[in-house]
Amino acid sequence: MKQRLYLVACSLFLLCSPNGYGQADASGEADRKWWKEAIVYQIYPRSFKDSDGDGIGDLKGIISKLDYIKSLGVNVVWLNPIYSSPNDDNGYDVSDYRNIMKDFGTMQDFDSLLAGMHRKGIKLVMDLVVNHSSDEHEWFKQSRASRDNPYRNYYHWWNAENGKPPYRYSLFDVNHDAWKYDSLTNAYYLHYFSRKQPDLNWENARLRQEVYDIMKFWANKGIDGFRLDAFQFVAKDTTFPAFPPGFEKKFTLWYAMQGNLHGYLQEMYKEVFSKYDVMSVAEGAGNSFTDAHNLVDTNRHELNMAYAFEGVDIAKPEGYDLLHFKEVFSRWDSAFADQGWLSIFLANHDQARLVSRFGNDSAPFRERSSKMLATFILTMRGTPYYYNGDELGMTNAGFKSIEEYRDVQTLNQYQHEKATAGDLQKYLQRAGFESRDNGRTPFQWNNSPNAGFTKGTPWIKVNANYSSINAAAEEKDANSCLNYFRSLVRLRTSNPCLVYGKYILLDKDNPSVYAYVRELHGQKMLVILNFSATNAHTATGLNLAKAKLLLSNYISTASTITQDGGIELRPYEAAVYELK
Ligand code: GLC
Repeated sequence: MKQRLYLVACSLFLLCSPNGYGQADASGEADRKWWKEAIVYQIYPRSFKDSDGDGIGDLKGIISKLDYIKSLGVNVVWLNPIYSSPNDDNGYDVSDYRNIMKDFGTMQDFDSLLAGMHRKGIKLVMDLVVNHSSDEHEWFKQSRASRDNPYRNYYHWWNAENGKPPYRYSLFDVNHDAWKYDSLTNAYYLHYFSRKQPDLNWENARLRQEVYDIMKFWANKGIDGFRLDAFQFVAKDTTFPAFPPGFEKKFTLWYAMQGNLHGYLQEMYKEVFSKYDVMSVAEGAGNSFTDAHNLVDTNRHELNMAYAFEGVDIAKPEGYDLLHFKEVFSRWDSAFADQGWLSIFLANHDQARLVSRFGNDSAPFRERSSKMLATFILTMRGTPYYYNGDELGMTNAGFKSIEEYRDVQTLNQYQHEKATAGDLQKYLQRAGFESRDNGRTPFQWNNSPNAGFTKGTPWIKVNANYSSINAAAEEKDANSCLNYFRSLVRLRTSNPCLVYGKYILLDKDNPSVYAYVRELHGQKMLVILNFSATNAHTATGLNLAKAKLLLSNYISTASTITQDGGIELRPYEAAVYELK
């Protein structure tokens, strides 16, 4: 009882305290922006919808689904790269930044897509991949041709007569060696990702101007934003000092936010962002709040948002601790309450499926836990990003053999394990939980062959569960994940409180329930989320006598509220209340 009273007192204190988690928002509502109010829907074009039967999703496919996208209520789409590419890393290896990948269609298709989105009031954010290009880009072809080629300095080279370059870790290379020897000029080039993704040299002002020109080319077409891929890595110490052994275990400490990164962003702002009404978001937010703040501090004129990985990295094959999860999201919210703006996401094309990693994809709990996670993402402060297919509660791929995988990272790591006598079975098990391909299987439209994704052979296998989990079936079911997602989107878009309101954590030490209040101009909304597969209780410490239930993932009956402000929750229950 004492414990209960203490919790109640603490919660009330937090609710009233200007110093509790969640300050009144200085940068938020006072400075309303469309990109703060946006709900971003991420489309992985290769797997969304194939229009011509080659087994690969394409732009016409997306065009054919614009009504569906509109029906979700989202107002921004982020498209993964659609530029010309040999597809070593599914478009993250660009060979021509001003052209469309053949598999995806033509520039005319792109123009129709953009116009179609705009007609429907949906904005388009493009991926900008400029930490590296493809080795098949003309710049790289020139660069490697001779040591005195004018493009030589577009990339990082180390001449072999100076010995082997200091070790750099590559995320995607079979040997994890980021230097690749090229006999043509007897030199090594740097690639933080695959060998076919040589890193661009941002110290070269000419290269930077080329990038700004490319950005203007797309901005002049009328796109609405850029997602800067792997941008925290662009600036490097080009004296290439030796790093201490084992640095690769924490490589972002050595790779992220180096050199003149902020200078480059400020230059980019001056050259591009300041001239267009575009949103800007970088992948990666550095290693500290200071890094993250510096990226998005409005006075510094760099970016609108960055997205940090601390939250998404919590999920592990053995599970995760909700207290840790709450602590991370509360800490980030608190750090950005007065200045800056966050992105909220738990999944994307580099992660396995949301419900399989953070929820429970076994039959009795899949829908419920998927809706619970959606409730979290759409009721937090910050711009929510939702990955295509997660609105259906799509699950991990269930691949058992390496032949089923397509992702360069997964395949190369498998080869690495093989070469170093690793435990291949164990590796496959891990890949089953976390390989990026889990999130890249074709979108499940209906129960016709290949889930209605293609009339041909899909580039990657369709998840076997498509006959029961698919958009057509969910359209017809008023209580499906899909329709719940739509309700959540409506709730957020009609309540600025969920966008700008301060965030106040309740019942902090509860290991099963995540409960918080969002508050703006006296409007208070209570969100309660049971992250466990069993019944749970939360002590909100609030007077819930007049609480009005706005949304719940249990339809039959509302959860039980006790007189002392407690709530009894059923497995994976999620509910949003308006407090009076
Ligand atoms: C980013 C992308 C990822 C890609 C990598 C290299 O992390 O999200 O998909 O493989 O950069 O471009």
